[in-house]
Amino acid sequence: MAFSKIAQSIGASATLKLNARAGRMRQAGEPVIHLGGGEPESQAPESAIAAGMDLLKTGKIRYTPAAGTPTMRDAIIQYTEKFYGRKVERANVMASAGAKQAIMVALMALVDPGDEVVFPVPYWVSYPDMTRLAGGRPVPVKAADGSIQPTLDEMAAAITGRTRVVLLNSPNNPSGQVYGEDFLRGMVRMCEERDVFLMMDDIYHRLVFDGASRVNCYDFTDREVDEARIIVLNGVSKQYAMTGFRIGWAVGPRDLIQAMANIQSHQSGGPCTLSQAAAVAAIKGAQGSVGSLRKTLEVQRDEMVALLQEIPKLKIHKPGGTFYCFCDFSAFDGDCTRLSNSLLDLVQVVTVPGVEFGMPGFLRLSYCGSLSDIREGVRRIKWALDPDGSAELKIGDLVVRR
Ligand SMILES: Cc1ncc(COP(=O)(O)O)c(C=O)c1O
Repeated sequence: MAFSKIAQSIGASATLKLNARAGRMRQAGEPVIHLGGGEPESQAPESAIAAGMDLLKTGKIRYTPAAGTPTMRDAIIQYTEKFYGRKVERANVMASAGAKQAIMVALMALVDPGDEVVFPVPYWVSYPDMTRLAGGRPVPVKAADGSIQPTLDEMAAAITGRTRVVLLNSPNNPSGQVYGEDFLRGMVRMCEERDVFLMMDDIYHRLVFDGASRVNCYDFTDREVDEARIIVLNGVSKQYAMTGFRIGWAVGPRDLIQAMANIQSHQSGGPCTLSQAAAVAAIKGAQGSVGSLRKTLEVQRDEMVALLQEIPKLKIHKPGGTFYCFCDFSAFDGDCTRLSNSLLDLVQVVTVPGVEFGMPGFLRLSYCGSLSDIREGVRRIKWALDPDGSAELKIGDLVVRR
């Protein structure tokens, strides 16, 4: 059967494919260590669970407005005031089925066929395909020096008359890099000067370490939200460990938000009613779980980095936030997909090949699982990469040989 050109141009999400493979291996009883995931192990806040249950018990779970319930939008307003220092109105905010959908409808509202969407390398795995789904042309910008963040000049050189959107994600998935103030200030100004929309994917913005403060892109513009060329994407998935609830949101100029809500109204309608109730409770309730998740992640980041540093020839970039450590494994195998597959086949550790994020030679290792998984996963990787090490590795009752 012949499918559309769009269907033919889009592949399955690499990370979701890996999750599925790891799940099948686990079900078959294999001792898989999953360092490929992107969700915290902690529970959703109790207030969120209770709010969802209370609504569920009423049995009246109805459609909501496409942009979200008034209460949901008010919670997003409250969040924006608290964390971005901007007073916005309901017309400036909308809820979606995850930040993913918010990004997607924003691209659909802004991008015409052939328009360019510029983003730094490494990038979140979905940006190129999301851009293509919106009819646009992805323009990844790679640092000439091979580092994990291009310079302002390199970003500027990629912006052309066809550029509609610059898409930034900080802290960054996969690198954990927190873009500094100078870079973000420069990007906000550049986008204003070139009349390009800046989409800030802030899904990890509260999950930063080493006492760093959150960077807020609105700090770098004097314009009101309605006039600014900024759209902020965020959600409950990562910070509140509510990945499965599928609630994200967008904040931006009201005419853009209206256009996005129109698209969403035909695409999926309002996000899940129960999940909106739960998300409202998470945003308005006690925030202790976010702080403890951040602390847990920081300890786990430190453990993973310390263990990885024991592997000679491995180049590590210490992540400043997120769940991920992005390392240059090219000294072991220039083909990171082959390396990732062989780590899974030989020692049953899931990693994500850097090529999926635009950086071949790298692997992304997640530290959002348990400390014991981190220790065991790195132990196995270390053995697999050391040709002079012992001939055998014990994994529980299993003995693996080179
Ligand atoms: C950078 C980035 N943006 C957006 C998302 C999507 O988040 P959500 O689960 O809210 O759709 C993810 C999820 O992995 C992500 O890593």
